Amino acid sequence: RGRPRSRLLGFAPVPVAEGNGPWPSISADYDYQVLIPWGEPLEPGGPAYQWPPSAADQARQIGIGHDGMWFFPMDDKACRDDDDRAHWGRHAGRWQGGENRHGMLAINHEFGTNAHVLGKAMPDNLDDVRTSQHAHGMSVVEIKKVGRSWRQVESANARRIHANTPVAFSGPVAGHALLATPNGNIPLGTLNNCANGHTPWGTYLTCEENFNGYFGASGAWSATEAQKRYGFSANGFDYGWHLFDRRFDLSDEDYRNEENRFGWVVEVDPFDATQTPVKRTALGRFKHEGVAITEGRGKRVVAYMGDDERFDYIYKFVSDDNWKKMRRAGKSPLDHGKLYAAKFNDDGTGQWLELSIDNPALAARFADQAEVLTYARMAADVLGATPMDRPEWTTVAPNGDVYCTLTNNSKRTVADAANPMAPNPDGHIIRWHDTDQHVGTTFTWDIFLIAKDTHGTEDSFASPDGLWADPDGRLFIQTDGGQKDGLNNQMLVADTKTGEIRRLFTGVSGDEITGITVTPDRRTLFINMQHPGEGDPTVANFPAELDGVTVPRDCTIVITRKDGGIIGS
Ligand code: FEO
Ligand code: CA
Ligand code: CA
Ligand code: CA
Repeated sequence: RGRPRSRLLGFAPVPVAEGNGPWPSISADYDYQVLIPWGEPLEPGGPAYQWPPSAADQARQIGIGHDGMWFFPMDDKACRDDDDRAHWGRHAGRWQGGENRHGMLAINHEFGTNAHVLGKAMPDNLDDVRTSQHAHGMSVVEIKKVGRSWRQVESANARRIHANTPVAFSGPVAGHALLATPNGNIPLGTLNNCANGHTPWGTYLTCEENFNGYFGASGAWSATEAQKRYGFSANGFDYGWHLFDRRFDLSDEDYRNEENRFGWVVEVDPFDATQTPVKRTALGRFKHEGVAITEGRGKRVVAYMGDDERFDYIYKFVSDDNWKKMRRAGKSPLDHGKLYAAKFNDDGTGQWLELSIDNPALAARFADQAEVLTYARMAADVLGATPMDRPEWTTVAPNGDVYCTLTNNSKRTVADAANPMAPNPDGHIIRWHDTDQHVGTTFTWDIFLIAKDTHGTEDSFASPDGLWADPDGRLFIQTDGGQKDGLNNQMLVADTKTGEIRRLFTGVSGDEITGITVTPDRRTLFINMQHPGEGDPTVANFPAELDGVTVPRDCTIVITRKDGGIIGS
C-alpha cells in the first residue's frame, strides 16, 4: 500500500475486502478486546446475564444500546485535585501512573428494540415494560486493567440510571408549569441517551435524543403544535410502554407535560452514585445528539450541540462567566448562559442567533424564557436558523476548529452551501471557527468532506456520526448507516491537515460503531458496537459466539496498538 503520506496516520488500514461479514476487523497494527456487553452484571457478583432478562436483574446489569461514553481516570491524585482534569489530553505521554489503568466509565444505553430485549414485538404487561425501561439509560462502571485486559471491579460508585431513576431539573425551566403534571408525579428517568459530553469539573453529560418514540396514546389524542414539532405520535416507535405505564400515555390527562421532561442534557457525577442526575434546561430541549464542551474566552464554558433530525439545527451554549468563578459562587455554569442556533450563510460566514425572550420576535410567540428553551426548535424556526442534514456529533479540535457530522438526509430537495447534496444519502462533515474564541456571535465555516466522494476508494465510508478530535490533529470518524463497497459500519481516522483518511476498525453486519473515549495517555481507546446484527442472531451474533449465549449483545470494544503507541498513530 505504499509509504504513509500522513505523519499522523502510521497504521495499516483495514482493506475494503476485509471490512464485512459477521466478525469485526481491525488494523493489523492493533488488537481489540470486548468489555461490558449488554446484560453483564454491573459489578462482579451481580445477577448473571440471561436472555431475556428479568426487570429486576436488568436494573442491576449493563443496559443495551451502548453509545456515547467517557473514561474518568482514577489513581492520579494530582489530576483529581485539579479542577481542569478533564483536559488531560495535553498530558498524553507524560503520565505514567495508574490513571491509564483504572477509572470510571460512564456509558449511555440509547435503545434496544422489544424483539432484542424482550424476545417479542410488544410488552404483555407492566413487568415487560419495566425490563425495557431498565435496559435504557446509562451505566457508570469502575474498570481496571489487570495484566493485558480490562475488567469491571467492585465499586462504591457503580450505578445504573434508567427510565425510572429519580432526576432533578435545574436552570431556567426548573419549577416551571411546563414541567409539572396534574398528577404531581416526581420527575423520573432519562431516555434514548445517545452521545455525550464531559465538563472541565469532572462530570459526565448524557444527551436525550429520540425521546418522542417512547410515548404513545392509548385513547383519543391529537398532537399539539409543539408535540408535532417534536415528533410525537400515537404509536411512537412501537415500544408499547404507554399501554401499561400511564406516564408515557399522551392521552392520559393526569400526565400532561410528562413529555416536556425529556429532551435535555443530563449531568451525572461518575464519582458519586448517590448524586441525583440533573437535567440542565439552559441547554434547551431538542433531540440532543451530543454536547462538545470547550473553554471559551474568559474561561466561559461553551457547549456545541446537534439536534439529530432532518432539517434541524446546530446549537451553542455559552456560560455567563468564568466557569471556575461561577462554581466558587455555588452556581452551575450550565444553568446560566445564552443559547444560540446556527445560521450558515452561503458565503462561508455564519451567525449565532440567540434564543432569548428579549428578542421581540420570540416574545411575540412565547410567554417566557422557559418556553423558549422547552420549545427551542420552534424558537430557532422563528429566528431562521439553517436547517441541516441531521446534525449528529460535534467535537472541538485543539486549534479551535469545531467539526460536526451531518449524517445524511434522503429528503433534501434543495441544496445550499452548508448542505450541498440534494438528496444527501451519505452525509458530510462541516467545520466552523468562532470569530471570538467560542463566545462570539459570528463564525466562518467550510465543508471538511463529503462522504460520497470517498466511495469506490480504500477510504470509502458513509453516514458519519461519532466524532472525536484528538490533541494531535487527528479526527476519529464513526459511521451509522448503509456503507458502500460492501463495508460494515466502521471507524476511520482522518488527518485534518492533509485530509487523508484511513480505516482503523470495522464492525459486524447490522451494527453501528459509536462512542469514543481514551485513557489519559491515549494508549487505550474505548468504542462501542451498537445493535450488532440489529439484534438478530442470524445476521450477526457478536460477541455471542464468544460467550455462548443466543443473541447478539451491544458491547464496548477496547482498542490498543500492538506496539503500545498512541491510538490513531
Ligand atoms: Fe442516536 Fe443521532 O444518533
Ligand atoms: Ca448517533
Ligand atoms: Ca446516526
Ligand atoms: Ca444509534
